[in-house]
Amino acid sequence: MTTITTIAHPNIALIKYWGKRNASLHLPTKSSIALTLDALYTQTTIKASDKEHDSIMLNAAIAPERLAHPIIQFIQHVKQLYHINQSIAVTTSNNFPTAAGLASSASGFAALALALNDFFSLQTTPQELSILARYGSGSASRSICGGFSLWHKGLCDDGSDSYAEQLFPATHWPELRVIVVVVNQTCKTISSRDAMQQSVATSPSYADWIKKSEDRIDLMKQGIAEKNIHLIGELAEQDCLDMHQTMHDSKPPINFFVPATYTIIRTIRELRHKQSIPCYFTIDAGPNVKILCFEKNVTTILEQLYEINGVINCMTSKIGEQARRIIPEQPSSC
Ligand code: PMV
Repeated sequence: MTTITTIAHPNIALIKYWGKRNASLHLPTKSSIALTLDALYTQTTIKASDKEHDSIMLNAAIAPERLAHPIIQFIQHVKQLYHINQSIAVTTSNNFPTAAGLASSASGFAALALALNDFFSLQTTPQELSILARYGSGSASRSICGGFSLWHKGLCDDGSDSYAEQLFPATHWPELRVIVVVVNQTCKTISSRDAMQQSVATSPSYADWIKKSEDRIDLMKQGIAEKNIHLIGELAEQDCLDMHQTMHDSKPPINFFVPATYTIIRTIRELRHKQSIPCYFTIDAGPNVKILCFEKNVTTILEQLYEINGVINCMTSKIGEQARRIIPEQPSSC
């Protein structure tokens, strides 16, 4: 058994996933569409270990229990599925804030699923690999694919038809950019895993969002195919705001926004309406904002964003590739 290193990018949903019909298999209540971020990534290395238990190093430190627990559970699940006994040492790191609403679980579990697949020669098909990543975190199923992806909600109880597939490769829309605006880098107070089930169980607007969001899937596919930023942007903003409304309506209410989140939303709308700059926002389970725009407008948008009180950092990204195996760079000897 050799050492395996993989890389995977987080993905940002344009049509969101929020809620499970089967919590242990991570089967979603609806289909979702996402794009992958090239500039952000998780890199994961697996080596054989002679210890009794698997070990996890996260961002160059022993992973805290809260973050290590789902990773260990995932590895055990995969080992059980494939009747594997070998212990492993996992080293994983993100080049962006972990568990802060920037989809580190999507890139993390996609990189880990691929690393396990290659390390143990599981020989999964692309669909099976997406399903494997889904066991770690629902949205990880989409990070396997790269480019623009559709995660089918599926109908089967065993989840065998709930996987993501690529709609268009990363090269489909080279001028499209996503600006990730970081307003808070600390870990979330409630995990997306718990928060989404609270919405499913208690939010009166949840069923209505599911219906509206499902209806947006075909239009979103069309918008991406036609490279129509206005269509995808309007749909993405509406879907994100409707999803957050289901959270605000939950009991007790869930609110991931901070004051800077609202100011960014206002700024993006002003840039669009007053300066005719095509830019649209989407927000996940955290206060940070992702902005869809074109490369030629990035500098103007960034100038406005850095004026906002509470904006810590902005990362601009092209669309990213699928999860893949890499040969890590060796430190130079001279
Ligand atoms: O896969 P999870 O448990 O991290 O959930 C992700 C949920 C959202 O990011 C809010 C929406 C989505 O579709 O990615």
